[in-house]
Amino acid sequence: MTRKRDEFEVNNKTTNSVFSEVMDARISRRSLFKMGGLGLTAGIASLFPSMPFASEQTTKAVDAAKSGSLSFRAVPYSSLDTVIVPEGYKAVAFYKWGDPVGIVGNSPEFKKDASNSADEQAVQAGMNHDGMAFFPLGEGDERSRRGLLAMNHEYVDNGLLFTDGDQNWSADKVLKSQNAMGISVIEVAKNSNGDWDVVRPSKYARRITPHTEMSVSGPAKGHTLFKTAADPTGSKVLGTMQNCANGETPWGTYLTCEENWADIFVKEGEQTALEKRYGIAGSDESYRWVEFDDRFNVNKNPNEVNRFGWVVEIDPEDPTSTPIKHTALGRFKHEGAMLVVAPDQRIVVYMGDDQRFEYIYKFVSNGKFDPAKGKKNSDLLTDGILYVARFDDSGKGVWLPLLFGQNGLTAANGFNNQGDIVINARGAADIVGGTKMDRPEWVAADPKNPGHIYCTLTNNKNRGKAGYPAVDAANPREDNLFGHIIHWHEAGSDATADHFSWDILALAGSDQTDNPNYKAQNSGDAFGSPDGLVFDNNGILWVQTDVSSSTINQKAYQGMGNNQMLAVDPADGYFKRFLTGPNRSEITGIAFTPDNRTMFINIQHPGETDSGTTAPDAVLALSSWPDGPAAGRPRAATVVIQRLDGGVIGS
Ligand code: FEO
Ligand code: CA
Ligand code: CA
Ligand code: CA
Repeated sequence: MTRKRDEFEVNNKTTNSVFSEVMDARISRRSLFKMGGLGLTAGIASLFPSMPFASEQTTKAVDAAKSGSLSFRAVPYSSLDTVIVPEGYKAVAFYKWGDPVGIVGNSPEFKKDASNSADEQAVQAGMNHDGMAFFPLGEGDERSRRGLLAMNHEYVDNGLLFTDGDQNWSADKVLKSQNAMGISVIEVAKNSNGDWDVVRPSKYARRITPHTEMSVSGPAKGHTLFKTAADPTGSKVLGTMQNCANGETPWGTYLTCEENWADIFVKEGEQTALEKRYGIAGSDESYRWVEFDDRFNVNKNPNEVNRFGWVVEIDPEDPTSTPIKHTALGRFKHEGAMLVVAPDQRIVVYMGDDQRFEYIYKFVSNGKFDPAKGKKNSDLLTDGILYVARFDDSGKGVWLPLLFGQNGLTAANGFNNQGDIVINARGAADIVGGTKMDRPEWVAADPKNPGHIYCTLTNNKNRGKAGYPAVDAANPREDNLFGHIIHWHEAGSDATADHFSWDILALAGSDQTDNPNYKAQNSGDAFGSPDGLVFDNNGILWVQTDVSSSTINQKAYQGMGNNQMLAVDPADGYFKRFLTGPNRSEITGIAFTPDNRTMFINIQHPGETDSGTTAPDAVLALSSWPDGPAAGRPRAATVVIQRLDGGVIGS
């Protein structure tokens, strides 16, 4: 079985803004204007003659920053098969793939030969943990000692999931594979030693899988393209899958985002324009669900595929609640959903579409957040305006509304109603002229500086190549192997604004190469392929990396070790390496307790191979994290990070 998870591409040719000021002194918009004037294809080396900073002003900024203002001592690169954190911290793995979620009366233990049944997998941790949020329980201080973790299990490795891998493929194996995807909700609590345990049993414990019934809200509900033989009303969908990053709402619900669903649906023969635009698979040798489940056969069930690619809202406190697919937020390969409350109490959700040359979107609700309405605020996600971002070379940007009847979104271009637009949000964004970005991953909103938003653009090796879109100021490097982080400031510091100014926080890359396309251009420690991005409760920005295994082997990256997590203090803009992960893992998912004294992260795909094979021997040759080689196979897991003195993380 082979997969290449990073071969993503389809048919698409206030304030006291200290952070922002520091950035302006570094990789600034002004530099990028100069690049435009020089001709962007000239590369960036000439603009940064004394790497990594070009001007006297920026050199001073670096001197002032020194090793950054955060007090922990940065960790070095590591190629050890373990999680490394700074001196004075500890990192403990728990809730590993296969561990029971803790449902009352149904808590089967993991079998290390992977012989758990499909039914057992449905009540155990899924594979490849990804986005995650912490929902406190109780009152006062208890809220930092007890809570719910909701987390995504993004995808499955069938080679590891079964005792005999994907040999003797069967309907039962498909069911177990499906049950290893989706969401976990677990109760967690600090014990008397100050360590965290999964509470079992727990009345909150829940697994959501590709078979869990979901309702539908918004313009696609009941749409012709949503109706199937099993659901002629187009209003009831079974399941969610390929859940990547996440979001959370101020009314206490979890948002999970469907990313690489198009890999699982198979359409043989000629594809429709809509299918092509979303890159529906022509065959699937990785998941192989289609071999025993016709729901994923687009030739037989043409509309089921339209019911995936959405942001799904889950109430983690009620295990009997029905998740909701909110179609007003648009259909694409969703990475995350960063929700902010605007000054006028409308809510805004920022979202990336993670594929090469895809877009950054935001949704602005028509209604206003009212804390007194509690979870009924969910209705805000059913009615609003979806926008796509255009980043102009001038350093300004515009949010372009995707509204039926406007900007060419009319019958003449194949859009007959708003449902058509949200189902084909990519096609609508093409017509209105959004900016094609270098794989938008997570979006983070600075809690201390309203209207300042950041997005990771993880990489795009095809940027600037013949036959592909050229570089532009917002995506300034050809062959962008290591990605960058963009920042924008909404006009008036108001998230609902229709325009913004923007600049680049960091061009990621290696500190061990002379190739300007691959060279790190940031203050502080070097890193590649930023992906996870979140501000903690104290306004520190955390960056998690996902350099793919095939790239880790490339000459430009050699010597930089495993994927990592960095902390950036807005006061100095300095990237400080906080953690390195096990071999061939990705660091993803991040959540904090309200007191910021416990951090939870996820380790995904330890032992990922270059070829994509998930045969246990091949994977074990690279990683046996977290339980060692005798445990039979590596397992994705959540990691709890605390300071030994119980202090605030990162400060
Ligand atoms: Fe699932 Fe774009 O990472
Ligand atoms: Ca990601
Ligand atoms: Ca990624
Ligand atoms: Ca990865």
